[in-house]
Amino acid sequence: MKDKIFIAATNNKNKLREISEILKKIGYTTFSMKDVGIDCHPEETGNSFLENALIKAKAIRKMTDLPIISDDSGISVDYLGGMPGVHTSRYSGENSTDDSNILKLLNALEGVEKPKRTARFISAVVVLMPDGQIITSMGRCEGYIGFEKRGNNGFGYDPIFYLSRNISFAELEDYVKNSISHRARALRKICFKLKKIDRMELLGYDI
Ligand code: IMP
Repeated sequence: MKDKIFIAATNNKNKLREISEILKKIGYTTFSMKDVGIDCHPEETGNSFLENALIKAKAIRKMTDLPIISDDSGISVDYLGGMPGVHTSRYSGENSTDDSNILKLLNALEGVEKPKRTARFISAVVVLMPDGQIITSMGRCEGYIGFEKRGNNGFGYDPIFYLSRNISFAELEDYVKNSISHRARALRKICFKLKKIDRMELLGYDI
């Protein structure tokens, strides 16, 4: 793998920071779509996080030949049968904001006791190389939906997603979230696969 760069298929600054910090550790530089003049907002019509991550990567492939990394993620709440799932970003409608999504989720769990509020963040990461090679991975982080917002870090649902030790994602320092989050876990697996491919190429094997 010659080009040690990626275009990240996201317009979310927080995700971009998380992705580039992890890829930096294995020598990759990550650029945003804006950095390379790409404006792309594909409709996420897939039935799974993986399908949606692929949809995003393939949409951007039409605009650049550079290596692409895309992530699709969301939250799955057991009491709601896995919802919001792939609808996480638009959970409270077309004009959803983080606050309106959080409010809707807290209302949906009104009166539900802590043991039944279990949930997990899920991330699917897809790498699409210029030669068409696709590398995928999944990551999860288990926790529960708290009763109130807490913390000022992070983004999205972080203030109401709590780890079992009763600390919300939004209360974690960046380096902690970036070690244990669903995206961190998926990205670590991607890094492992990329390093393996780099090593095989270095040894002269065509894989
Ligand atoms: P996506 O950009 O289509 O992948 O949408 C992801 C949705 O899940 C958005 O509503 C995000 O706010 C939410 N989400 C994904 N990852 C995280 C996270 O690490 N913390 C909080 N919310 C997240």
